[in-house]
Amino acid sequence: MRLILTAASFALLPLFPLTAIADDELVENAIEARHGYYKMLALNMATLAGMAKGDVAYDEAAASQAAANIAALTHYDLPSLFVEGSASGQAEDSAAKPEIWTDMDDFKAKFQGLVEAAAGAPEAVKGGQDQLGPVVGKLGGACKACHDSYRVKG
Ligand code: HEC
Repeated sequence: MRLILTAASFALLPLFPLTAIADDELVENAIEARHGYYKMLALNMATLAGMAKGDVAYDEAAASQAAANIAALTHYDLPSLFVEGSASGQAEDSAAKPEIWTDMDDFKAKFQGLVEAAAGAPEAVKGGQDQLGPVVGKLGGACKACHDSYRVKG
């Protein structure tokens, strides 16, 4: 067993310089992924907000689908995309405040706020345009609570 391990360690040696590149790639991919994630949240929020404001005609199925998309996104472990080295100032294109990493429990609690706001939203938006306001307010409040603390203002 020891022999095999030793042989394996030697085999890995030439790979060490590559780990740095792999880390950079992980950081870049994680940042891109979270931007895509937030864009999907924003697209669906825009659908709901547009109907809430009356800019777009109320469409129960479309509203419920947009809310279901947001709820589905909250089942993804978003905090896992905030990998080490991907804060603003450490990596390009990041608007993630370094406090995320020092206050990770609170950051996760803010994400939990969105999870809770989205749960039940697909049903709550049914029944007429006047159902949308409170749901959009609750969801938007959860976005804002996290952005106020953890997103660098652009
Ligand atoms: C738990 C914290 C948190 C929650 C909840 C949250 N955001 Fe964000 N959001 C961030 C952070 C941090 C960034 C910056 C990420 C980066 O630049 O890597 C961001 C960035 C964004 C961006 C910019 C993405 C880009 O391409 O640069 C949009 C759009 C966005 N959020 C929309 C939303 C919407 C809409 C919601 C609610 C439905 C929401 N966010 C909820 C933390 C959060």
